[in-house]
Amino acid sequence: MGILKIGVFAGSLRRESFSGKIAGIVADMLPEDLQVKTVDIGGLVLYNQDYDDQGAPPREWAAFRQEIASLDGFLFVTPEYNRSMTPALKNALDIGSRPFGQNLWSGKPGALISISQGQLGGFGANHHLRQTMSFLNILLLSQPEAYIGNVASLLNGRGEPANQSTKNFLQEYAGAFALWVRRFARP
Ligand SMILES: Cc1cc2nc3c(=O)[nH]c(=O)nc-3n(C[C@H](O)[C@H](O)[C@H](O)COP(=O)(O)O)c2cc1C
Repeated sequence: MGILKIGVFAGSLRRESFSGKIAGIVADMLPEDLQVKTVDIGGLVLYNQDYDDQGAPPREWAAFRQEIASLDGFLFVTPEYNRSMTPALKNALDIGSRPFGQNLWSGKPGALISISQGQLGGFGANHHLRQTMSFLNILLLSQPEAYIGNVASLLNGRGEPANQSTKNFLQEYAGAFALWVRRFARP
């Protein structure tokens, strides 16, 4: 089996984002046959169907769509905003799903980690995203689940896992994701 290209998406645009840090840690734990690309979703103009209807999507959308089309799998790490998904991530999902009939997410494997600084681990975002991703036909890893609560206490000042059990959990998750992605790889 050849190299598989994995897009990594952080649901938060914040410079010191915990989602971004966890995404980076898990990405670094993936085996070498998974080639990781961090996908920037912060520069995407808010979805407006007029641009597609006029056949003139913003340049950033076109580049983003090309990138999604080139990927073999997706790893999403996101916080929760008001018990739901972040607008940045929803916007990215919407842009990749259109024009109608050209859903670029469809049929590709993905995994979803939610984080929070509180105790709930972003459960609301996680399950709202699962609803959207299921509709988009992203083949989403169900087990293990990853709701990472109290995230600030699980990373040290350098943004690394602060303890062995956090490291083990993220390593197990990376391993499960790698197995999952390979199951759907074209021979
Ligand atoms: C608009 C907004 C809404 C939020 N709503 C929630 C929430 O519903 N549940 C929660 O656990 N945290 C909530 N938070 C806190 C964020 O999850 C927290 O700041 C998190 O660290 C942001 O993710 P990041 O570190 O990746 O930037 C909210 C933050 C913002 C800015």
